[in-house]
Amino acid sequence: MTLDEFRTRAEAHKNDAGVAINAAVDATALEAARTQVWSRTIQQSFSKALGELPAEDRREAGRVFNELKMHVDGVLEERQRAIDATQRTQSTSQIDLTMPARARWRGGKHPVTLVIDEIVGIFRELGFTVALGPESESEWYNFGSLNFPPDHPAMDMHDTFYLGEGALLRTHTSPVQVRTLQRSAPPLRILAPGMAYRVDPFDASHAPAFPQIEGLAVDEGISFVDLKATLTHFAQRFFGKTRTRFRPSFFPFTEPSAEMDVECRLCEGVGCSACKGTGWMEILGSGMVHPSVLEAAGVDSERYTGWAFGMGPGRIAMLRYGLPDIRLLYDSDVRFLEQVAE
Ligand code: DAH
Repeated sequence: MTLDEFRTRAEAHKNDAGVAINAAVDATALEAARTQVWSRTIQQSFSKALGELPAEDRREAGRVFNELKMHVDGVLEERQRAIDATQRTQSTSQIDLTMPARARWRGGKHPVTLVIDEIVGIFRELGFTVALGPESESEWYNFGSLNFPPDHPAMDMHDTFYLGEGALLRTHTSPVQVRTLQRSAPPLRILAPGMAYRVDPFDASHAPAFPQIEGLAVDEGISFVDLKATLTHFAQRFFGKTRTRFRPSFFPFTEPSAEMDVECRLCEGVGCSACKGTGWMEILGSGMVHPSVLEAAGVDSERYTGWAFGMGPGRIAMLRYGLPDIRLLYDSDVRFLEQVAE
């Protein structure tokens, strides 16, 4: 082996290695090429050739070999960079920028809350403000002050959750009428949304805990005309241009009392299963505040008169969204709720 032969061999390996490395198209192929160009056989053949050289040429041959090694390492590195770069562009080109964004769950208001907000909004325009009262009530506020005589069968209308020691879960929002009148002297117009509770089965049309909205207007010279005009205005704002009717009714805390119906939203008055063939749907109870309720609250019933109403926003949400079962509103199933949520 001469120095020239050694040079030729180094040159040949430089070319072979270059070809092998640049043929590699991905990381795996490059690893294979790396092992191949510096295989044990190749390393051994070079060291054998070095050993065969005359002693005075070995230094120069060592330099040639080092140069070869650095060159091949450089080619490997360059190829590695090129493969990395194509992989990067390949993986970004798999991102489809025209795909619609994944929808984000933002949360939303419950259908009953939407209905309450809308009702409060309509009455706010008419000068009504919101008043609140406790859900745990005394018997007196829930019944006595509202002119339910003791042991009168009227109290059977409400199956009550008693908490003991004269306390109970309020069966309606009407006690807020008395509490508010005790706090603020008339004239006043209030709306009292809140939960009420009754011992009822949880079925398609009943829930043991349900929302109510109470309304109350007290001033000098308030008459049934105010009641009818205000509630008719409300119904038309809420349901759109629709016919309404008042039916005589009974509540211990109003005299006279009336229930208000709107034309059935589903059949437009023709009669269907939702309105039990009547063409009407009841939306609230109302009446002129009974003088003894005003007196119980410390209001002079000779000077002041008032009207009141109570309605169930759960029922109204059923009408509005055409729901067949009240449990849909209270089951908290987001698959239903997100269809309505705003
Ligand atoms: N409190 C009654 C109930 O829960 C609803 C009601 C009727 C409220 C007439 C009123 C009213 O203020 O005037 O069934």
